[in-house]
Formats: sequence, C-alpha cells, structure tokens
Amino acid sequence: MLVLGIETSCDETGIALYDSERGLIADALDSQVAMHAEYGGVVPELASRDHIRKTIPLIRQVLRDAGAAIDDLDGVAYTAGPGLIGALMVGASIGRSLAYGLGVPAVEVHHMEAHLLAPLMTDEQDNSRPVLPFVALLVSGGHTQLVRVAAIGHYEILGESVDDAAGEAFDKAAKMLGLGYPGGPALAALARSGTPGRFKFPRPMTDRPGLDFSFSGLKTYTLNTVRSIDSLTDQDKADIAYAFEEAVVETLTIKCRRALEATSVDDLVVAGGVSANVQLRKALEERLDATVHYAPPALCTDNGAMIAFAGYQRLAAGQSAPLAIRTRARWPMDELPPLTEKADDG
Ligand code: KG4
Ligand code: ZN
Repeated sequence: MLVLGIETSCDETGIALYDSERGLIADALDSQVAMHAEYGGVVPELASRDHIRKTIPLIRQVLRDAGAAIDDLDGVAYTAGPGLIGALMVGASIGRSLAYGLGVPAVEVHHMEAHLLAPLMTDEQDNSRPVLPFVALLVSGGHTQLVRVAAIGHYEILGESVDDAAGEAFDKAAKMLGLGYPGGPALAALARSGTPGRFKFPRPMTDRPGLDFSFSGLKTYTLNTVRSIDSLTDQDKADIAYAFEEAVVETLTIKCRRALEATSVDDLVVAGGVSANVQLRKALEERLDATVHYAPPALCTDNGAMIAFAGYQRLAAGQSAPLAIRTRARWPMDELPPLTEKADDG
C-alpha cells in the first residue's frame, strides 16, 4: 500500500511517501523558520499562505523522487489536528480533495499520535522496536504528555503540562537570551559551553506526587535570573542556558521514572521536537532502568513521514475519513478510536 502523508499543522510543510513493503520511500520538508524568525514566533496567517505555496510542489517532488505516479497512491493521510486551524485546513483540503479525485481513501491523522508512532517506523526486523505496552513521553512545542500505550490507538494520558509545553519553554527561555526563533536547538547548543553548578534552577512539580508538568515557573525563574545580571556576557548566557536545560531534562527524567514505575513498564518511547535534545537522551538512557526508543533526529521534529506512517496504520485497519474536510485545533489523544474498530467512514 502506497500512502502519501501531508503535514501542515504549524510552520513546516512535510510531504512523504510510505510504502507498506518498502518503508519510507520519499520525504520532503520545507521549513518556514526563516520567514517567522523576524516576528519571534509563528505568524498563523503567514504559515497558512506558505503551506498553500509549498504543498502541491512538494507532492510533485516526492512522487518524482520515488519514481511514482499520482495514481499509484492507495491512500492519502493528512494532519487534521491539533495545530493552527488555518494551516491545518491547507493540508486537509488538498489531501481530502486529492483522495476524492483519485477515488482512494483519506485518513485524518492526529499530529501527536504521529509523533508517538515515529520511533516505530524502523525495520520490522529491528529488535530495538518498543514492546507493548510502553510509556511515551511526548515533548513538542505544543505538548508535554506522558502516555501509556497499550496498543496503537489505545492511549491513556498519565500526565501533562498544566501550562507551557517543554518545547515552548525552551523557545521562550531562548528568546530571553536573545537567541531568536525557534530557540530550542540554539539554547541546547549554547548550554554546551555553560558552567555546571553556577546556577541551580527549580525542578517544577517534582516534590509532590503526580505525573503532571508545569514549565511556566521555570520561565519566570529564567527571566528573573537574566534581569539580575547587569550586562549579560556570552558566558552568563551559556551558564543560564546550561541551568535551564539541566532543570528541564531532570524534571522530565524524574517524571518518566515515576511513570514507568507506576505502570510497571520497561520500554519508554520519547517523541516530538524536544526528543532531539542530546542531554535529554543521555539522561534518560543513563538514569532510567528502561529501554529508551526515539525516532532518528530528522523524524523527531515535524515531518510528513510520520503522518504517512500513522495514516498507513489506520488505513490498514480499515479506517478512513468521511468526505467532509475536518480539522481540530484541539484534539485530546485519548479520543482517538482504537485501531481494531472501524472509525467513521461515512
Ligand atoms: O514536534 P515539533 O517539531 O513541533 C511541534 O509539534 O510543536 O517540536 C518543536 C519544538 C520547538 O519548541 C523546538 O524548540 C523544540 O521542539 N526542539 C528542541 C530541540 N530541537 C527541537 N528543544 C530542545 N533541544 C533540541 N535539540
Ligand atoms: Zn510536532
């Protein structure tokens, strides 16, 4: 089965082809980062307009790269939520219409489920594949969640952020240090020259039981630290970046340990943009008694491959979207239908 994946939920246009026999056979990504950078964050209307410009040329490109024709497609998967509604509408309109025109099923993909499944996109022979049930830590720009995964589509939210997401906190702290947008990778790079131990930032919500997160206090703490220094030197900035990253990493690690203990599970899947963070990977591997799985770095941040792969799982289970073009800015993951039941296929 050949599935086209379309991702347009935020500021990346990601298009890919997943073949059930051969795996990922083409993958193209256009990032709008440079366009939004001068505004310090994503401007939703600019994002939508750019997706309109990029989606169809990138679909043509992946077909060309794979040596496939448009009518070789057996299904079209597109991100239907959560995300920016205008941006989602672009991918959903193009994807739904294309599937209708070709007479093939379409499937509405949940962006966070796609992140969660991305680490499973490895070779079936690969024994590093996570064993069900597993715990997933989803850490992106919009979400921070711990999920118990009993099977694909069976998600129990164990805990989530009550305010900012981890990636959002990285981006905001980076902005305070003058690092531009998106700040996560830049802050992580700067932290490498930071002095361990100069600052000690709080580990929010780790001193009480529970699996929820809060990152807004850490953001305020960062701002207060920045303001407490008269003229910030590059070394001051690196030291603050170090303390910030260390606090986020340790907080996430503590909560993952708790989640694994509470569920008696041995496998941890880490997904979403922040799962590309090297210190986070190192801490989880070194400090947890669990097998930790991630997607390759390029598939941690937004991409079309994860959408094609997640869509394929649902199409293969007989699920498909109705003719209506539906998108959801908010979409709790535990509302997803299990894979074994037929979803709305109006
Ligand atoms: O999953 P993603 O690409 O988009 C969303 O679904 O939100 O995640 C983007 C987030 C941004 O906040 C970005 O700063 C963060 O992931 N990020 C990182 C790193 N790479 C991306 N944060 C910390 N360290 C990184 N290496
Ligand atoms: Zn994402």
